Amino acid sequence: MHRVLITDSLSKAGLKVLEQTPGIEVVIRSGLTPQQVREELKSVDAIIIRSGTTLTAEILEGQERLKCIARAGVGVDNINLEAATRAGVLVMNTPSGNTISTAEHTFAMMLALSRNIGPAHASMKAGKWDRKSFQGTQLAGKTLAVLGLGRIGLSVAARARAFEMNVLGYDPLISEEKCKELGIQLFRDVDEIVTRCDYLTVHTPLTEETRGIINAERLAKMKKGVRIINCARGGIIDEQDLAAAIESGHVAGAALDVFVDEPPTDRRLVDLPKVLATPHLGASTDEAQEMVSIEAAELVVAYLQRNEIRCAVNMAPVSAQEMVELQHYLNLCYRLGLLSAQMIRGQGLKTAEVVYRGDAAARKTRLLTNAFTAGLLEGALDESVNVINATSVAQARGIHIRESATGDCENFASMVSVIVETGQGRFEASGTIFGNQFMRLVRLNEFQFEAYLDGLLLIYRHRDVPGVIGFIGTHLGEDNVNIAQMALGRRSQAPGGAAAAILNLDSTPSAETLSKIRAYQPDTKVDIVRLPPANAGLPWLTAR
Ligand code: NAD
Ligand code: MLT
Repeated sequence: MHRVLITDSLSKAGLKVLEQTPGIEVVIRSGLTPQQVREELKSVDAIIIRSGTTLTAEILEGQERLKCIARAGVGVDNINLEAATRAGVLVMNTPSGNTISTAEHTFAMMLALSRNIGPAHASMKAGKWDRKSFQGTQLAGKTLAVLGLGRIGLSVAARARAFEMNVLGYDPLISEEKCKELGIQLFRDVDEIVTRCDYLTVHTPLTEETRGIINAERLAKMKKGVRIINCARGGIIDEQDLAAAIESGHVAGAALDVFVDEPPTDRRLVDLPKVLATPHLGASTDEAQEMVSIEAAELVVAYLQRNEIRCAVNMAPVSAQEMVELQHYLNLCYRLGLLSAQMIRGQGLKTAEVVYRGDAAARKTRLLTNAFTAGLLEGALDESVNVINATSVAQARGIHIRESATGDCENFASMVSVIVETGQGRFEASGTIFGNQFMRLVRLNEFQFEAYLDGLLLIYRHRDVPGVIGFIGTHLGEDNVNIAQMALGRRSQAPGGAAAAILNLDSTPSAETLSKIRAYQPDTKVDIVRLPPANAGLPWLTAR
């Protein structure tokens, strides 16, 4: 049973999706303190939040059961993504469900600001009939600057065009052609666009780059009488600088849906008569809430029950079908990681490279490399390592994992090779998948094999002379250890040279037996490697 925690108010439609899914238990808790959220997370597999819950590093660190976070909405600035990734937790959002509602709210705010709807309404409600104090401005013919031409920015721009406004835009990630097609004049310089507009609206995420992108200096460059709208995130426009510009009369007014602190603790800006304010209502429509809650619930179910990754903000997407097709490759790479880790034990891992050949090269290799990295690191670390956090765990330890792809696949249709550099040398192994499902180790350093990659492996390096295998078999037999499979490989075709054997054993030989086997020839080397059983799935995939 997968448990899904909900800590913010979520539309009934989304709850219904969860409640009607067999194998899902919904846990609703509201008004939790950060400490309580941390405690609740210990016993759930997923959490769905809106903007009311903040998931800090302190809350996310060490969460062992939590597998995913779904944000019913766009902004993930209330989730510490780095901490979630470090903890191996998938983070997803529902990027498009509230676009139209937020664009409409932005437009409602712009119209209301222009026509003084807020103060006129308050005056009427106070029993007055004042037709002189609330003269406004028309939108048609005015110039609107849109900072951030993503989903919402473009929807606002389209509505502004319908209102006969001239639309200017600034966004580093949009093409000139797209803007031309939509009737938007594109600027590549914020300092220039701000000088040209009568209205300015921001629709970027809040990032280090956009925090305070509209500040005292840029406000001063704007035309006197400019009107400013923020329905994106508090802090994109510096609140104190905006308050000062309104108080001085340079800015005619502002319409704000979002604030640095929600609710705002400093009332200087909100209390100004020229400021129209709403309490973060951009996405608060029946339609948007229904859409984002259904979407968030579906994302969680798809991940928990089918390992499907959609709308992830800390990982590439993988459909359920792709995940099914990838399972054997993921497993192969994970096992090559486990094998490498045990073969280089104590040598000091420096770097590793994964080379994909043939069919493997056409797969989602980033994910496969993460599976290899998870296997390579998991035994040495206290924390759990999975495909989501593998790269960041390796990077944090200064271990560089490269990947490359080549069409050359030697004698196989597909092959994955791993090369691990250590303080004492280099270890190489290659694996393949036969018949779309059978994993085989086909190379170990200079030796070629066709060995099983599961269970307990005894890897034996020796000189290729008669009697060696019989000797090992006799000693294992005396120790009551059964040999399930065996593969032999030698460096050259002629006997007498270096050779290796991989024996899959049904139980662990005693230390005494191992030392007898080791002592057979002076250059004998014996390693014991433990891999998962043949049919074991991946430990960190939520659905098997
Ligand atoms: P989006 O990702 O589709 O668009 C964001 C755009 O901002 C992108 O095109 C990106 O290239 C651009 N951008 C990033 N950095 C920039 C920079 N330095 N300068 C200019 N442009 C930059 O996101 P969206 O869905 O359109 O959402 C936009 C904002 O609205 C987000 O902050 C989101 O959190 C917020 N939002 C608020 C509400 C609300 O209730 N008020 C609802 C939904 C979304
Ligand atoms: C969002 O990021 O989607 C919005 O801020 C809406 C919300 O969370 O209510």
